[in-house]
Amino acid sequence: MHYTLCDLIADLTQNSAEAQAKKITVELLETDKDLTVYIRDDGKGMSPEVLQKASNPFYTDGIKHPKRKIGLGIPFLIQTASDTGGSWDIQSKEGEGTTVTARFDLTNIDTPPIGDVPLLFRQILTFPGGCEMQIIRKKNTKTSEFEYDFLRSDLLDALGGLETAGDQALLLDFLQSQEDQSGD
Ligand SMILES: Nc1ncnc2c1ncn2[C@@H]1O[C@H](COP(=O)(O)OP(=O)(O)OP(=O)(O)O)[C@@H](O)[C@H]1O
Ligand SMILES: [Mg+2]
Repeated sequence: MHYTLCDLIADLTQNSAEAQAKKITVELLETDKDLTVYIRDDGKGMSPEVLQKASNPFYTDGIKHPKRKIGLGIPFLIQTASDTGGSWDIQSKEGEGTTVTARFDLTNIDTPPIGDVPLLFRQILTFPGGCEMQIIRKKNTKTSEFEYDFLRSDLLDALGGLETAGDQALLLDFLQSQEDQSGD
C-alpha cells in the first residue's frame, strides 16, 4: 500500500473534526532530518480506555463504518512512526480535547514520503462542518526556509467561500504560493 505522511495527517485531522472540535490546530515543522507534526483539538477527547483501544488496529467505534472492524488512523500513525525510527504521543482528556504529536525521521529510507503539503491543507480546510482551523507551517532545510501561519476564518473572509471549484483553485494557489518562498 502506498501512502504519504500527508495522508496520515489528513486522517488524524479528520478524527479531530469528527470529535466535534470547535478549533483544530495543525502544525508541521520540517527540517532536512525530520518532520514534526502537532494536531491539537478541543473536541470530545478520549478516556484512557478509549485511547488504549484506539491504539489497537482492530478497534473502531463501530458507528462510522458499521461494517468495518478496523480503524486506520491511530494504528497507522503508531506503526509508521515506530517502524521508521520516529516517535509519537497522544494526550487526551475526555471533554477537553486531544493533542497528537508525531516525529518522522526523514533520513530513514523506510519513512513514507511527505506528500503534497498544499493539497493536504486544502483537503483539511474544506472538511465538512467547517470548524476553526489554525495552520502553522515552518520549513528550514538547506534549500528552503520559510514559515507561515493563518486561520481558516481569515481565509474564508478573503476568498468569500471555500465550496466552489473556483474557491478551491484560489485556495490551492494561495497555499502553493506560501510554499514557494524558497530561500535561494
Ligand atoms: N482527536 C480525537 N478525539 C476524540 N476521539 C478520537 C480522536 N482520534 C481518535 N479518536 C477515537 O479513536 C477511534 C479510532 O480512531 P481511528 O482514526 O484509528 O479510527 P476511526 O476514526 O474509527 O476509523 P477511520 O480513521 O479508519 O475512518 C475513533 O473511532 C474515536 O473514537
Ligand atoms: Mg479516523
